[in-house]
Amino acid sequence: FKDKYMTLRKPNLVPTKRLPDALIIGVKKCGTRALLEFLRLHPDVRAAGSEVHFFDKFYHKGFEWYRNRMPPTLEGQITMEKTPSYWVTRSAPKRVFAMNPAVKLLAVVRDPVTRAISDYTQSASKRPSLPRFEELALMDGPWGSVVDTWPPVRLGIYARPLRRWLRRFPRSRILIISGERLVVDPAAEMTRVQEFLNLKPVITEKHFYFNSTKGFPCLLKSESRSTPHCLGKTKGRNHPYIDPVALERLREFYRPHNERFYELSGINFGWQ
Ligand code: A3P
Repeated sequence: FKDKYMTLRKPNLVPTKRLPDALIIGVKKCGTRALLEFLRLHPDVRAAGSEVHFFDKFYHKGFEWYRNRMPPTLEGQITMEKTPSYWVTRSAPKRVFAMNPAVKLLAVVRDPVTRAISDYTQSASKRPSLPRFEELALMDGPWGSVVDTWPPVRLGIYARPLRRWLRRFPRSRILIISGERLVVDPAAEMTRVQEFLNLKPVITEKHFYFNSTKGFPCLLKSESRSTPHCLGKTKGRNHPYIDPVALERLREFYRPHNERFYELSGINFGWQ
């Protein structure tokens, strides 16, 4: 009996690739990389390093393909992946539900005005000839109306995609994380995250230090590196100066959308 039992038990000791138990579904430029890197500090979390884009680009490749992109895990470890474009992929909620209706979803959000500037800064870093932010975000200069079809602006309307996800998943299955709090108090935000994922509270303030040169929290050590380090150069960029009138126009534009999002999420993020 012992032999048979041992043989049966053995596969559990071998790391196996599994479909994700939890997904970081968005939102682009809100701190999704920081959240994933912080979660990877946990010994019971294993995550794919790069964005897999299964539910938006590669769904036709099937679940076996997806499973193969995942890191091997031992029983009890959580498999994760982050692809921020899932947030706005119309078919994603249905597809994610088809994979696992009990999957846990995490979304980081941030003041949509700052998010839009962050998104623009990323594009401008690749295309220096890009017109100024104000010219793209507003029609006919800073006094004009907001171009809500421009992706950096559109992506900051959080209520619409959240409504789509809530058609498939109960509110309790989606953790909405404040991108601002992830910067100001990463340990407190990670306590919420660990609770939501039923993980032991291993990630604490001991893991972080505030790097005043970078202006962001950085890690004292991680799985792959034992020395202090920050996220890469592409995270925590300097933003360009934006005309205050343009900023005010954008704030006005987002106000009703933000209210709708606060109502739907049950959280008042207090964005101005
Ligand atoms: P900026 O580079 O515009 O400041 P994402 O990983 O989803 O693309 O989000 C990038 C944003 O994460 C950065 O935008 C930055 O504000 C935010 N962020 C949050 N915590 C961070 C950290 N510890 N280090 C660097 N950036 C962080």
